[in-house]
Amino acid sequence: MPKQPKTIFTCSKCGAQYPKWVGRCAECGAWGTINEQITNDQSLITKIKVDRDQLVDFQKTNLPVFERLKTNINEFDRVLGNGIVIGSLILLGGEPGIGKSTLILQICDQINSPIFYVSGEESASQIKMRIDRLKINYNNLKFLAENNIEKIVAFAIEEKPSLLIIDSIQTLYSSELPSEAGSINQVRICTVKLLEIAKKFNIPIIIIGHVTKDGQVAGPKSLEHLVDAVLYLEGSARDNFRLLRCAKNRFGSTNELGIFDMTGNGLQEVKNPSELFLPHNQEPISGSAITCIMEGTRQFLIEIQALASKTLFGYPQRKTAGFDLNRLQMLIAVLIKRAQIPLVNQDIHLNVTGGLKINETGADLAVCLAIISSLKNKIITPETIILGEVGLGGEIRPVYQIEKRIEEARKMNFKKIIAPIIKNSAKDLIMVKNINEAIKEIF
Ligand code: TYD
Ligand code: MG
Repeated sequence: MPKQPKTIFTCSKCGAQYPKWVGRCAECGAWGTINEQITNDQSLITKIKVDRDQLVDFQKTNLPVFERLKTNINEFDRVLGNGIVIGSLILLGGEPGIGKSTLILQICDQINSPIFYVSGEESASQIKMRIDRLKINYNNLKFLAENNIEKIVAFAIEEKPSLLIIDSIQTLYSSELPSEAGSINQVRICTVKLLEIAKKFNIPIIIIGHVTKDGQVAGPKSLEHLVDAVLYLEGSARDNFRLLRCAKNRFGSTNELGIFDMTGNGLQEVKNPSELFLPHNQEPISGSAITCIMEGTRQFLIEIQALASKTLFGYPQRKTAGFDLNRLQMLIAVLIKRAQIPLVNQDIHLNVTGGLKINETGADLAVCLAIISSLKNKIITPETIILGEVGLGGEIRPVYQIEKRIEEARKMNFKKIIAPIIKNSAKDLIMVKNINEAIKEIF
């Protein structure tokens, strides 16, 4: 005899289920949303026939390795993990005017196979003007000014370029959706279509996406899960250098940083970042300390500036640019407690020059000494480099890759190196155990 179908009562608003009808959902509190449903007590697992060949046995199957397209722009290739993976979808985000189109054109210059450049922003003559200005080799370049994604897809299938560039995703629209270009839905459907092209025809695609000023990423953030790699070009319009960061990478690490200098002839690679971030031809001032940080596999020297000034009224202010505010608060507390530095009624501003952001603890000691230098109005002698993490007890802790950092400091002619205790180190290092020793050494 077949089983009697069971009935169940489900809330149409929140999906809560009840064995009996109720007037008000106990889960979400809505009235009159409970509807009767009939369930036939069958298992949810349905039987379908599967093809066992679909299974991958890593021991037996020979999988193709990913080929990469090299751009010869070292800073770009390195951030991506040694070039553009063929068939991958890359999102290049950044504020308007930061230099995304410029960077992409310079990449085009370096690639010796057909490139298809689609712009929804600029006309052919605008792009040509820039090509001429940057002296870009355009023999391999085909250009299309178009906003309709269906047309772009049709062209891309026809052309089958070795690299497709979309500038920018916010200007594209699909005729399948009524919303206007730039809306989240449009941006998403256009990206999904491009993704299909990339995978089906094995064409790498670089999508440019604008990020708004306040960091609210209108389009790009909602695309991060769709694409294979996400790069952000950062930097302020005031400074000339640009940082290329990788936020996501399915084919490599994300901790590499590319550094460029925006010049009259486009973006130039910065081979020696230490030179760029150190103060140039400048009288030494109090509140400045030099340290060495690691970004991915690269190390470079940066300047940390602190300003301590007496609080005029109320609670003392602590402001940072490029450094974690909570970490600064902690370091101030350590200085007050362990080294008796009177910072209780001091406003403290901390700035990492060059618009860099420090995401590691190796700069702690330099931050502490910069603050003291500003407070005492005493200059830390030039040629001094300060390395070390500061613990809550005021102890100086080791930092990773210290040898690399010291080597960089020597290369840049820094004579006095303040560092945590290291076994078997060179004699000329000044090793300090705690914050008090470091202060005595410097001031
Ligand atoms: P662009 O690549 O158009 O920015 P995006 O595509 O990110 O919006 O770059 C625009 C800015 O770059 C513009 O303000 C001028 C500057 N620029 C230079 O300083 N030097 C150059 O050689 C070029 C081409 C642009
Ligand atoms: Mg542009």
